[in-house]
Amino acid sequence: MKVYSDPLSIQKTLSEARAQGLNIGFVPTMGALHQGHLSLVEQAGQECGVVVASIFVNPTQFNDPNDLANYPRTLEADLKMLEEQGCDLVFVPTVETMYPEPDNRIFAFGELETVMEGKFRPGHFNGVAQVVSKLFDLVNPDKAFFGQKDFQQLAIIKAMVKQLSLPVEIVPCAIVREPDGLAMSSRNKLLLPEYRKCAPQIYRILSEAKNLAKSHSVAEVKNFVNQEIGNANLLKLEYFELVEELSLKAIQSWDESGIKVGCIAVFAGKVRLIDNLIFNR
Ligand code: PAJ
Repeated sequence: MKVYSDPLSIQKTLSEARAQGLNIGFVPTMGALHQGHLSLVEQAGQECGVVVASIFVNPTQFNDPNDLANYPRTLEADLKMLEEQGCDLVFVPTVETMYPEPDNRIFAFGELETVMEGKFRPGHFNGVAQVVSKLFDLVNPDKAFFGQKDFQQLAIIKAMVKQLSLPVEIVPCAIVREPDGLAMSSRNKLLLPEYRKCAPQIYRILSEAKNLAKSHSVAEVKNFVNQEIGNANLLKLEYFELVEELSLKAIQSWDESGIKVGCIAVFAGKVRLIDNLIFNR
């Protein structure tokens, strides 16, 4: 596995691979890797001749400076995990490389960026679009792999690719969970033991809500989640929304068309966790 911090060097290697007829799979990450990230690398390996991962904690997508400062950084362990997973190339740029000058681009994703994460983390998705568009430009992948864990991010990236007519296929990958149901996340490392113990309640409540949806209205299911998270020790609900998969519009009734997804954001102490579950009946 080769590690690059210089864009020109990785581009040279990638153009040689392309000349050999290999297709390129790309997995962008912010590091602090876990099995969820590795599942993306694994899928990329199954579908592509060359697998490129990037590790870059992108400052422009953090609306909270403390969150950026506290974001876990475990580069050495990350590189070891990527190598063991069969990743071919890793791009680890510096902030100066990615942003030699401030990125003033403003993307417009309409309602996709004003609900849920967009509502509670203003500017977050603009930062994600800034960095992912730059990374796509550098790597020029045939396919890029994104986790359904960040459901809204996936919708934003798909919209961005359409808007910019980028020649990349976006491949969604299933959520990887801990044995107790907690969705894997780099932020789980920040949970104090008592909060870590409580955090699997999020998935338990989502799963129960999905079951309840077979016999109860959308409003009743929403109330249930509100109440259950309220009763759960140490958890604080930021939002729970039932939305249509592509438009992310809140649904009013189960009879509406499209795939319905229950999306949740919860504070476990100071750590903000997100999760989601497909709710089709
Ligand atoms: P990061 O949070 O490191 O996640 C990198 C990728 O791993 C994302 O596509 C995310 O959805 C996926 N992922 C995280 N946890 C997962 C899990 N439990 N199961 C499956 N996939 C999971 O998302 C970002 O970084 C950044 O916003 C980025 C796209 C790299 C832009 O900076």
